Amino acid sequence: MKLLITGGAGFIGSNFTEYILKNRPAYKVTVLDAMTYASNPETIKKFRLSRNFRFIKADIRDFGRVKKAVNGADLVVNFAAESHVDRSITGPSAFVETNVLGCQNMLEAARLSGVKKFVQISTDEVYGSVEKGRSREGDMLDPTSPYSSSKAAADLVAVSYFKTYGFPVIITRSSNNYGPYQHPEKFIPLFITNSIQGEPLPLYGDGRNVRNWIYVEDNCSGIDTALHKGVPGNIYNIGGDTEESNIKLARIIVRETGSNEGLIRFVKDRPAHDRRYALDSSKLKKLGWKPKFNFEDGLELTIDWYRQNQAWWKRLKGRGFKAYYSRHYKKQGRL
Ligand code: NAD
Ligand code: TYD
Repeated sequence: MKLLITGGAGFIGSNFTEYILKNRPAYKVTVLDAMTYASNPETIKKFRLSRNFRFIKADIRDFGRVKKAVNGADLVVNFAAESHVDRSITGPSAFVETNVLGCQNMLEAARLSGVKKFVQISTDEVYGSVEKGRSREGDMLDPTSPYSSSKAAADLVAVSYFKTYGFPVIITRSSNNYGPYQHPEKFIPLFITNSIQGEPLPLYGDGRNVRNWIYVEDNCSGIDTALHKGVPGNIYNIGGDTEESNIKLARIIVRETGSNEGLIRFVKDRPAHDRRYALDSSKLKKLGWKPKFNFEDGLELTIDWYRQNQAWWKRLKGRGFKAYYSRHYKKQGRL
């Protein structure tokens, strides 16, 4: 099988690439990635040792490049996206361009090449905030940020490719991932690395927003299940078993890193900050998937990884990040 993975130099895409190279040794894997600020060349270095791995630096907004890369692939998994909600608030255009138009490019190229299965990686954020209960795949979409609305738009385009052309598309919607190789702009790695560096921990609003956390390897096994056992035209939620408020999680990270609770700062909230996400994943569980990692173990593995791989995240916290951090946290009056 020839599998094309877009966004494979980012957080979940690289974990998925590793998962496939390990668990499906007969697969030929091509990663296509534009290597934006969110990627790290160090992340994909180890894959280059495998004879089953190939890398193409290309942008999914470039139809010509995408068409060539898709040619000959049996399976496509589209992770490539602008992924940070806060950045989507100050710069929404890139989110529509990559997440919507880029996704449509991928779908069109894959349809014309006769790809056998196409998985579009989506998110629980398309359902919007859920005060009670758990989101199911048929629920109304109610995204609130430019990020989540661009992901919802991509989902609708992907479904239209199934309905209109019979193109075998599957969508997975996972909850918040955590684990190795996540960019330090996101909550868990930001709080771990700031704790290690003795920097303030900026908690939005009252800190009581709740996220449904999943260890990244469990999402990877869920995507693998959807890719191989999922029925085209279907959507599958992939949620972890843990719900945690940000304040509680911040305190756990402070404790586990041996840092100081005095570093926690309540700062100006994110606009349209969704209060709670929660997924019902029973549809995917019926295909045999279940998460393996409990939150305590997953978080311990994650903290250990950030302790032991400081060069990896310090590279991402370099000059470009400092400018973003200063704009987002300092100039906007958060820190
Ligand atoms: P990430 O930001 O860590 O990685 C994104 C990758 O895509 C990067 O390597 C980047 O270089 C690449 N990329 C960006 N724009 C591109 C373009 N135009 N062309 C080619 N490559 C491009 O993101 P992530 O957290 O790994 O998320 C991966 C996917 O999973 C995204 O589609 C995201 O919406 C979805 N998702 C993420 C989470 C989460 O908790 N991180 C949860 C649910 C869904
Ligand atoms: P994030 O990792 O950005 O994921 P998402 O917004 O996609 O869920 O944020 C997770 C939660 O942490 C969310 O409720 C926002 C909050 N948060 C903070 O309180 N402070 C921060 O500096 C960041 C980045 C996030």
